[in-house]
Amino acid sequence: NMIYLNGQFMPIEQARISPMDRGFLFGDGIYEVIPSYQGRMVGFALHMARLKQGLAALEIRLDMDTARWQGIIEQLLDANGKGNLGIYLHVSRGMETRRAHAYPDNLEPTVFAFTFEIPTEPVADASKTPVFRVVSEQDKRWKRCNIKSTALLGNIMHYRTGQKRQMNEVLLFNEANELTEAASCNVFVVTQGRIATPPLDHQLLPGITRHMLLDILRQYSELPVDERIISMDEVRSADEIWLTSSSKEVAPVVELDGKPVGQGKTGPIWQQAQALFSAHKY
Ligand code: PDD
Repeated sequence: NMIYLNGQFMPIEQARISPMDRGFLFGDGIYEVIPSYQGRMVGFALHMARLKQGLAALEIRLDMDTARWQGIIEQLLDANGKGNLGIYLHVSRGMETRRAHAYPDNLEPTVFAFTFEIPTEPVADASKTPVFRVVSEQDKRWKRCNIKSTALLGNIMHYRTGQKRQMNEVLLFNEANELTEAASCNVFVVTQGRIATPPLDHQLLPGITRHMLLDILRQYSELPVDERIISMDEVRSADEIWLTSSSKEVAPVVELDGKPVGQGKTGPIWQQAQALFSAHKY
């Protein structure tokens, strides 16, 4: 497996970073995960835009343009067989000689990229799609969840709650009992034919799949779609719940906190949404 680290390509076994890297000490960095099927990436430009926003939010100065990233990714895909690959991009603030919360402005960021195998492209077929069983709990993360930070301890602890109960994801709600997102996905609900997802703010990641799905539904379907606050009461009585993320695309949730969602199986609107996503994602 070939990786990219700080200007060089090498086998993963040869990659070295300092334990004084602020990414290691503080989780001081950001990342992206881009899916690629047979050499074709999904949402590349949007992932690049979010990466730039994250770097700006953290004041990490990185002298690398989109063409450079694209070049690195193409080399990695060539080296690693161009199948179904997730591309992980990671930029940390860089290495220091001592551990200190304060950081100098002139650090050289650490840039790391690798690929990993992912399942075949999701399909709009109820008999083939993986279905999700989830539990819910109050969102215990920080107030800047819109930044795709590598500091994911809150997400990991939430995910663990689900894992212990043999669940595949965890839905999160804020102190006002409003849905935010899931531990590693955005969330959509369908009630009486209307699709809704929480509006973008500091409580959730601006998911690329969420963004693309909203665009696709508005452009290619007549289905009504809202970005609005959604109470957990409404989530519990929804006909359908979907998770969205780069690897899952649109994934149906069939059980929430031990109770069936709608009929307890994949819904008809999910089928339409995933079919439209498959047709228009490139
Ligand atoms: N997870 N919300 C959170 C908290 C996430 O971690 C992710 C992605 C999403 C969906 O975003 P997108 O559609 O851009 O993938 C929402 C990634 C894939 C991960 O951490 O592996």
